[in-house]
Amino acid sequence: MDSKLEHIAQVLAKDGSKVVFFVGAGISTNCGIPDFRSPKTGLYSNLQRLDLPFPEAVFDIDYFRENPKAFYTLAEEMYPGKYLPSRFHYFIRLCQEKHVLKRCYTQNIDTLERVAGVKGDLVVEAHGSFTGNHCIDCHAGMDDETWKKLVKKGGIPKCPVCHGYVKPDIVFFGESLPAKFFDLWDEDSGDDYDLAIVAGTSLAVYPFATLPAEVSKSTTRVLINKESCGDFEENPRDSDLLLMADCDSTATKLADLLGWSEELEELIEAGKKKLDVEGVKVKETVKEPPQTIVKKDTKKESSASPLQKAEETAAGLAAKVAEAEKEKLPAIKKDKEVEELTKAIENIDIKDGN
Ligand code: OAD
Ligand code: ZN
Repeated sequence: MDSKLEHIAQVLAKDGSKVVFFVGAGISTNCGIPDFRSPKTGLYSNLQRLDLPFPEAVFDIDYFRENPKAFYTLAEEMYPGKYLPSRFHYFIRLCQEKHVLKRCYTQNIDTLERVAGVKGDLVVEAHGSFTGNHCIDCHAGMDDETWKKLVKKGGIPKCPVCHGYVKPDIVFFGESLPAKFFDLWDEDSGDDYDLAIVAGTSLAVYPFATLPAEVSKSTTRVLINKESCGDFEENPRDSDLLLMADCDSTATKLADLLGWSEELEELIEAGKKKLDVEGVKVKETVKEPPQTIVKKDTKKESSASPLQKAEETAAGLAAKVAEAEKEKLPAIKKDKEVEELTKAIENIDIKDGN
């Protein structure tokens, strides 16, 4: 058996261990929900029909202000309630039952951590969720039923107070993360964890991507992902444990080693029954997760020229920076984009010179 897995299992089995999770879309791909950046299958490779200037525009607040339809074309498909949690979600829940889960920071808006039974105070939905809707101008709220009715009719919900567009409380690029994220991370970041488990994320979106870098040096960081990423690549620590594998297969193996398999199966079965009783039409979670490892090259294919791409990125970036400065809030992804834009422009100079 893999010695890394054994080490993780030993820590999880220890009384009083403290574990924090940082997760992303990769923990929900086995549920049937595509991630964002995987080549071919990721959402951002499959948005041609929306005719966007760049794929992330669909979740960009400035783009939404001008073109809300693109997001609303996707909103119904993305609305939670159609999917069962994955094995990995239930593994997080099991960590809660064993009193080792200190917090689960998720970038996902699918709410599957909660569906799997992780308590609200232990989950931080850093990029918001579909629970709640607000006007993008005057911030007046709209209840879910009204919002859903309007969307079902094919409309774009507008604010009864000021006629601004109403959008669900998922965090768009250029918007600030929820206060809960900052408050709890302020509290949590000073803590010494035994394990920080990063799973199913490309660590491409800031500020979330900085969290693994901010855990104490005495914390063992674990990456369970199909590819290496973020701080694990840029500033690896000697104690890092990299498991380039499927999240669900890893959950199964860890549960085996820990003697938690029966409980894990029970949680999965109970979850299915509960949703059945509630009449939720769910898609079956993938039973045998694929073991293939995706290569590091996740660059998106695009027909746009490097210059067009840089111009698009520049326009998007300028708008986000302006928005962030206006609101004095950290616009998500800003730092990384500055870095990428600089690189893109350097590349163009070289190519154009040839
Ligand atoms: P990404 O799509 O960027 O990354 C998902 C990662 O999970 C990739 O590295 C995949 O290789 C990996 N992966 C996929 N399936 C897996 C599996 N079964 N087992 C192990 N690894 C797997 O998704 P996120 O990092 O979550 O934000 O994306 C971050 C944010 O970007 C999202 O929250 C969203 C998006 O734009 C907003 O929209 C604000
Ligand atoms: Zn309004």
